[in-house]
Amino acid sequence: MSGWSSPHLLGMRGLAREAIEAVLELAARRRPHAEAQAPPLGLLAGRTVANLFFEPSTRTRTSFTLAARRLGAEVIDYAVAAGSTVKGESTVDTARNIVAMGVDALVVRSAHAGTPVLLARHVDAAILNAGDGAHEHPTQALLDLFTLREIFGEVRGLQVLIVGDIGASRVARSNLWALRTMGAEVTLCGPPTLVPRAFEALGARVAHRLEPELERADAVMLLRIQHERHRAGAIPSVREYARLFGMTAERAARLRPGAIIMHPGPIHRGVELMPEVADGERSVVLRQARNGVAIRMAVLELCLEARRRG
Ligand code: CP
Repeated sequence: MSGWSSPHLLGMRGLAREAIEAVLELAARRRPHAEAQAPPLGLLAGRTVANLFFEPSTRTRTSFTLAARRLGAEVIDYAVAAGSTVKGESTVDTARNIVAMGVDALVVRSAHAGTPVLLARHVDAAILNAGDGAHEHPTQALLDLFTLREIFGEVRGLQVLIVGDIGASRVARSNLWALRTMGAEVTLCGPPTLVPRAFEALGARVAHRLEPELERADAVMLLRIQHERHRAGAIPSVREYARLFGMTAERAARLRPGAIIMHPGPIHRGVELMPEVADGERSVVLRQARNGVAIRMAVLELCLEARRRG
């Protein structure tokens, strides 16, 4: 398992290419065991993984649960609405108490950027960031790299166009770090209110018109508008956004042969992605979701092995 040494996965920023390669290579080996019909591996037998999701999730929570189970670990779900955080307990105290009961890894989703870093400093467990505010969503970026590599063979040199609410998106940030580390070219596209020029300093091109970008992209990643991270009224017109930046069948037809459409989910059909494109032949949306299980198997295994080694 060379290339990986940390008991935590907190973000893609600063993660070395060798560490990313270690995850992708292990995920490829675990891929057959990520399928529903495969018998579980016993590699994490005797370990316990706890999901601490302070924000909603379908894909990340489900796939971490399946990943842990398919490695033989026990999984518990902390039910936020029924837990003592609603009585004023701090996130650190909640996490420490859960870990005190014999939990080895915490999978954490929070509305607050930095929560996984805070827990990694103060809690004696492996911490896996399942999305923190607008900051990072590292396992989404890893499964996106895995999907790109499956389809194109190599990420280096790919032109990846990320369209949407970039400023508020943890998926965009994690993908930007990951894709740049792996040698892809990244263009961030959307209205100036959602895609600040400041992203150019992080190594991306910034574009405020979609049409001229379509013909050069190998992969187009559509992101939803993160209404939960905007003040009411900050997005003047969703209909206008869809007209200017939504991926329609007509726009998809202008992509290069072999270009793919990606989306981390959840999709707002009819806004950033039209239904016929979401379900069309270029779409790899469900492949991304499926690959999430193998990637999360790999990161759980690598982090818990690094923790065991101390
Ligand atoms: N892509 C993603 O994080 O989806 P969920 O919010 O459903 O986990």
